[in-house]
Amino acid sequence: MHNGTTITQFLIEEQRRLPAATGDFTSLLNDIVTACKVISNAVNHGALIGVLGSAETENVQGETQKKLDIITNEVFIKSNEWAGHLAGMASEEMEDVYAIPAEYPRGKYLLVFDPLDGSSNIDVNVSVGTIFSILRCPEDVENPTAEDFLQPGTEQVCAGYALYGPSTMMVLTTGNGVNGFTLDQNIGEFVLTHPDMTIPQATQEFAVNTSNTRFWEAPVKRYIDECMAGSEGPRGKDFNMRWIASMVAEVHRILMRGGVFLYPLDTRMLARGLGGKLRLLYEANPMSFIIEQAGGAGHTGRQRILDIAPDGLHQRVPVILGSKEEVERVAEYYREMENDTAA
Ligand code: AHG
Ligand code: MN
Ligand code: MN
Repeated sequence: MHNGTTITQFLIEEQRRLPAATGDFTSLLNDIVTACKVISNAVNHGALIGVLGSAETENVQGETQKKLDIITNEVFIKSNEWAGHLAGMASEEMEDVYAIPAEYPRGKYLLVFDPLDGSSNIDVNVSVGTIFSILRCPEDVENPTAEDFLQPGTEQVCAGYALYGPSTMMVLTTGNGVNGFTLDQNIGEFVLTHPDMTIPQATQEFAVNTSNTRFWEAPVKRYIDECMAGSEGPRGKDFNMRWIASMVAEVHRILMRGGVFLYPLDTRMLARGLGGKLRLLYEANPMSFIIEQAGGAGHTGRQRILDIAPDGLHQRVPVILGSKEEVERVAEYYREMENDTAA
């Protein structure tokens, strides 16, 4: 018999701690959880229900969309537009803000999401995920525009991800630590299996796409070179490397056993006028919030990710996150480079 804490119970108990809470937020999270269960089911059935493969369309980022990028975006919209908790939504897969249809009541929150992260992995049956972040809609704004979503990551009310791996998991923070839940397919509920997740500080594992090495900035090259030099180099210990190409899976591994993840700035991005590969609102901010809440750090090399004042819905930034000591070391290499150039 199942007798663990379900995510619903967990959320309601959290809500009771805040006497002013109306239940609105709990109810919104419930709809997000439902959306992730629907996505988990679609991802799970894959080829059996004909959802794999390319949709042959391009999103606003100029990336070719997979069928599941479009399906999962639609699932998120349908699950979250009707209940009256949201004033608007924004997604990696939509160019503009999604306005709540006139037939539904408006709420006080904004929902931002990457409906299917790591979608290049979907056709080869490797883990993918969903990332989301909840912001407050500025007061007196009834029909939010892109401007209203451009809040620094420190303003997030909640961030989370669902990981569709060997088990489906949901990992969440509301600014009071990080908790992980595993989907029990038999009862259709997420059950608290990983309370109070914290990142081990000492690490010997890094995650970066090394095929881009020749395009990186000097501090990132230096950091990775030193890891690669292992016990014979300045770090005096051997490192291990992983690259799944699904940020959700990568962040989850770091929460479980430590490590550092980098998607740094490179010269090809700069040539295209982009600030990085990963998107600030849908990927970098929610993941940095979770990682910081678990005792880690999230940085661009030049500044803390959560402090960035966004300048566009689809803005991209460099991402270096994970165990604090490693992230701080990369940031220190950036400071040293900048001091050298100034001298
Ligand atoms: P998305 O599938 O939402 O576009 O994001 C993919 C991201 C991220 O999850 C992953 O870390 C990275 O892109 C992989 O990039 P490479 O293909 O360059 O390895
Ligand atoms: Mn993504
Ligand atoms: Mn995506």
